[in-house]
Amino acid sequence: MDSLRVFFFFFIISTWGLLPGPCACFNLDTRRAQIFRGWEESHFGYTLRQYSAQGRQWLLVGAPLAWTDDQQTGDVFRCPMDDQSALNSGSACSRLHLGNVSVDNVLAPRKSGMRLGMTLTADHKDGSFVTCGPRWSHECGSSVYTSGVCTHVGAGFQTLETVTPAFQRCETFVDLVMLVDGSNSIYPWTDVTDFLVNILRKVNIGPGQTQVGVVQYGSRVVHEFRLGEHQTMDEVLQAVADIRQRGGEETRTALAINMAGSQAFKRGGRPGAHKVLVVITDGESHDSPQLDDAVTRCKRDNVTMYAIAVLGYYNRRGIDPSAFLKEIRFIASDPDQDHFFNVTDEAALKDIVDALGERIFSLEGGDGLGRGFGLQMAQAGFSSHLLQDGLLLGAVGAYDWNGAVLKRNSRGGGSLLPDLSAYGDQFPEELRNHAAYFGYSLGSLVGWHGSEVLLAGAPRFNHTGKVVVFTLDPRANVKVLQALVGEQMGSYFGSVLLSMDVDGDAQSDLFLVAAPMYCSHDAHEMGKVYVYKLSTRSQALLALHGALLPSPSLGSRFGN
Ligand SMILES: *[C@@H]1O[C@H](CO)[C@@H](O)[C@H](O)[C@H]1NC(C)=O
Ligand SMILES: *[C@@H]1O[C@H](CO)[C@@H](O)[C@H](O)[C@H]1NC(C)=O
Ligand SMILES: *[C@@H]1O[C@H](CO)[C@@H](O)[C@H](O)[C@H]1NC(C)=O
Ligand SMILES: *[C@@H]1O[C@H](CO)[C@@H](O)[C@H](O)[C@H]1NC(C)=O
Repeated sequence: MDSLRVFFFFFIISTWGLLPGPCACFNLDTRRAQIFRGWEESHFGYTLRQYSAQGRQWLLVGAPLAWTDDQQTGDVFRCPMDDQSALNSGSACSRLHLGNVSVDNVLAPRKSGMRLGMTLTADHKDGSFVTCGPRWSHECGSSVYTSGVCTHVGAGFQTLETVTPAFQRCETFVDLVMLVDGSNSIYPWTDVTDFLVNILRKVNIGPGQTQVGVVQYGSRVVHEFRLGEHQTMDEVLQAVADIRQRGGEETRTALAINMAGSQAFKRGGRPGAHKVLVVITDGESHDSPQLDDAVTRCKRDNVTMYAIAVLGYYNRRGIDPSAFLKEIRFIASDPDQDHFFNVTDEAALKDIVDALGERIFSLEGGDGLGRGFGLQMAQAGFSSHLLQDGLLLGAVGAYDWNGAVLKRNSRGGGSLLPDLSAYGDQFPEELRNHAAYFGYSLGSLVGWHGSEVLLAGAPRFNHTGKVVVFTLDPRANVKVLQALVGEQMGSYFGSVLLSMDVDGDAQSDLFLVAAPMYCSHDAHEMGKVYVYKLSTRSQALLALHGALLPSPSLGSRFGN
């Protein structure tokens, strides 16, 4: 197996002439290098952090394509820097086994390909570090959403917390109860079960998505199966096909709706799920005085109610159905044209499968599809940067890949995620479908009195790239202080950011912005690094001071 060496790349930026007064430069010892080896295919060495924990010096090494069992989750290794005997021994690094993340309430996660270890941020204050897998995904209906996951690891290398800051529950998070009249007058019963099977086929049934319960009623009310009792589509359809007609002389619709509200949605129901009740009946209720209360209670509990009048019994006997239809309209949620259905007989139920299926399906998809992506594809943790009072995460896929920057406050203080409009005219409407990748890179500047200013790169913005300099207050208000823009199309200006405190006074002095794809006149990607100096004047925070170019320049992607 091949091995990849972890090299310490270094280049010395001559600050001589840029800053007044003396400054400390440093060199690295290349003769007595420690070499750690890993499996090349895992991209061992993609990220590196020096880290002290448990009184020892470590090198943390990200391997975003490492495998955990049969899933390519990515992982982080720790390699001892203070163990002379382990020098060059190759086996010195050990895996932290962080790939098997588990996130509460996400029942269909996709860990394979999540790239854990792609970002690594060490917090030297409390000895913890954060590593992210921006391509962690979960299933919603037929879609797979890639919102990203981050793991916070303590000084003892134990997992403190796993967070999915851009995660949103599936729109298909629906608790669906079918309330079916099985009284004697319903005939033939198989038309009813066929109808149920065909409707449920159209719904996204699964853990974390829609779950189904069925209640049959007549004189009595029977829970055929409860919400979540059957987890998969196949199990649900089989159970529905097996339901037998229980009969009954009466149609106690009010009692059944009451039981649905007080029991069916409670047992197995999930907090936050959209509650949907479908009532199918062929006759006026025998307990109509209680109907008002029962329906009012369900509607107060935010149950969306669909009601289907089956007119077979009325039509077979030539009875006027108007009182019955009025009752069913009353049960249906408003507006009636969306929630009320009537069919001539049991066999005609098949004619409304498509219409009702679509209504329920549109409820399931009501928050997402058709309006573009919000955070579903955010890839939070694509970049990460430690602040004095929290952690910044880049979410390049947010808002149709325009990108976003998310702040996690320290000490469980929640997250802040301003959308693009919070940045004023920085991301104009006409460039919204250009995939700016805001949040691709992150940085901060520490100014006077320790105040902190944030920076985030959008390397594809308007083709030339941009860096936004801003502050973010605890109420997620953004104040844009300055924007730096690239000079060459496709140069990826802003894809790498670095702030430097050259004179060690705990204040940032220089800010470097790389454009690694900056091309020379003969079209080689030479790269260019722009050097900005913090100005003391208040108008422009950063003033361009010069640029660094590689030599020789052939395809070097300098600054990457
Ligand atoms: C991964 O996590 C799950 C649930 O937390 C656990 O059941 C399983 O045993 C773990 N697998 C490994 C290889 O650690
Ligand atoms: C019903 O929805 C409204 C508006 O969304 C909400 O304020 C209310 O708390 C909900 N009621 C219940 C019982 O969930
Ligand atoms: C269903 O109700 C509508 C009015 O809401 C009516 O026009 C139609 O004839 C009814 N259908 C049947 C089959 O009775
Ligand atoms: C985008 O680039 C074009 C061409 O350089 C320029 O004219 C335009 O002002 C830029 N738009 C924004 C919003 O920066």
